[in-house]
Amino acid sequence: MSGGHVVITIDGPAGTGKSTAARKLAQLLGFSFLDTGAMYRAIAWGCLQQGMDLTRHDLVTNFARQADLQIEDQTIRLNGQDVTQAIRLPQVTLVASQVAAIEGVREQMVALQRRAAEGQNIVTEGRDQGTIVFPEAPCKFFLTASPLERAKRREAQLRSSGQTVPLEEILEQQQLRDERDENRTIAPLRPAIDATIVDTTSTSLEEVIDYLQRVVITKISSP
Ligand code: DC
Repeated sequence: MSGGHVVITIDGPAGTGKSTAARKLAQLLGFSFLDTGAMYRAIAWGCLQQGMDLTRHDLVTNFARQADLQIEDQTIRLNGQDVTQAIRLPQVTLVASQVAAIEGVREQMVALQRRAAEGQNIVTEGRDQGTIVFPEAPCKFFLTASPLERAKRREAQLRSSGQTVPLEEILEQQQLRDERDENRTIAPLRPAIDATIVDTTSTSLEEVIDYLQRVVITKISSP
């Protein structure tokens, strides 16, 4: 609870149904929704556009500090440009995990995320929302699923957007990203000590959302 407002954090790796579940939960509760991965993706996209050397953490950090990042509902704008679709491209996905490991970039994104949550009831989704960004949140979730199941979901998602990528390649890239996200020194991907862990491997999205909603209601009504 912050200033009378409720923050619900949902963290976990890609392919756990986290984004869809978080968005739907926010809708059901009448809360705002924040997709923090989209923020790292937007910075990654901007760096790619500029052909930036990603080993120059100073340049990437400066870029993130000066970026005008606007997130409204489903649309994300970087420096005035709608990048909602572009940030989902596979090359951006890979670079996003590099950019997300840079300390200065994280500092900037964390500040923006806290600002976005001010005065709002919000469901915020990412990797470090329960551990670093909103450690005081009254309701935290960490979604997991087996690596194969996550890769299959990603394959289906790509197929529905007209992209065919072999499952082995998806698994390989997924492993690379997981390793980066889990082993980075700053804000590594891990559950908060007080998070509810939800394994979504053999659970439908509807069941997951229903479960999250029930836990939220219990936690918020009996603090
Ligand atoms: O959830 P996603 O796949 O859109 O996230 C893109 C990348 O950003 C991914 O490598 C994890 C990283 N990320 C992060 O480090 N911290 C967050 N709060 C959200 C995403």
